[in-house]
Amino acid sequence: MLDLFADEEPWQEALADGAVILRRFACAEAGELLTAISAVASVSPFRQMVTPGGYTMSVAMTNCGARGWATDRHGYLYATQDPQTGSPWPAMPALFRAFAVRAALAAGYPDFRPDACLINRYAPATKLSLHQDKDEATLLAPIVSVSLGLPAIFQFGGLRRNDPLKRILLEHGDVVVWGGASRLFYHGIQPLKEGHHPLTDAFRYNLTFRTTGLSE
Ligand code: SIN
Ligand code: FE2
Repeated sequence: MLDLFADEEPWQEALADGAVILRRFACAEAGELLTAISAVASVSPFRQMVTPGGYTMSVAMTNCGARGWATDRHGYLYATQDPQTGSPWPAMPALFRAFAVRAALAAGYPDFRPDACLINRYAPATKLSLHQDKDEATLLAPIVSVSLGLPAIFQFGGLRRNDPLKRILLEHGDVVVWGGASRLFYHGIQPLKEGHHPLTDAFRYNLTFRTTGLSE
């Protein structure tokens, strides 16, 4: 399919203090990123995690890197092993790391050293409720979030759950980076609308790169 916007130059939009949207920043590498996602998922498959409260999350998740985000009976944690396979999470592909470092730099965060990458897969109607990314042992590093495939509406609020929400359409190739004053801002994804994307069919994929601050 001819994509008239394939060669569109990326641009930036300020989101909040410490937060920026790098529009289309991942477009040029999207195919390679998606191939690497498939490789990770062939080792540590996508699964719907169950929260400590017994709620099955609608988003399907896997991880790569030294640490991976997971749930267990007691809470949320960064584990060195995939609890489903009993093996370490797949290593973070060099392409992932290099991309995340470049995105962080473009957003004003030099020296980003991610050790965890959570991979989310959204099917139609899948959502991610409002939450803070607060399971990391350090809050000095930003979160780098990459959107691939179907568009979604991202909610971005403030430090309190009740703070007003901005609603932002995130499209294929968009990258959101938040750190500094907005590192703990509440955020979420509204239920995905049905659609077809030439690279991901009926899905949206999201990568979030994190520095856990936990030793190996
Ligand atoms: C997340 O908050 O972990 C993911 C956000 C997204 O899917 O864009
Ligand atoms: Fe999050």
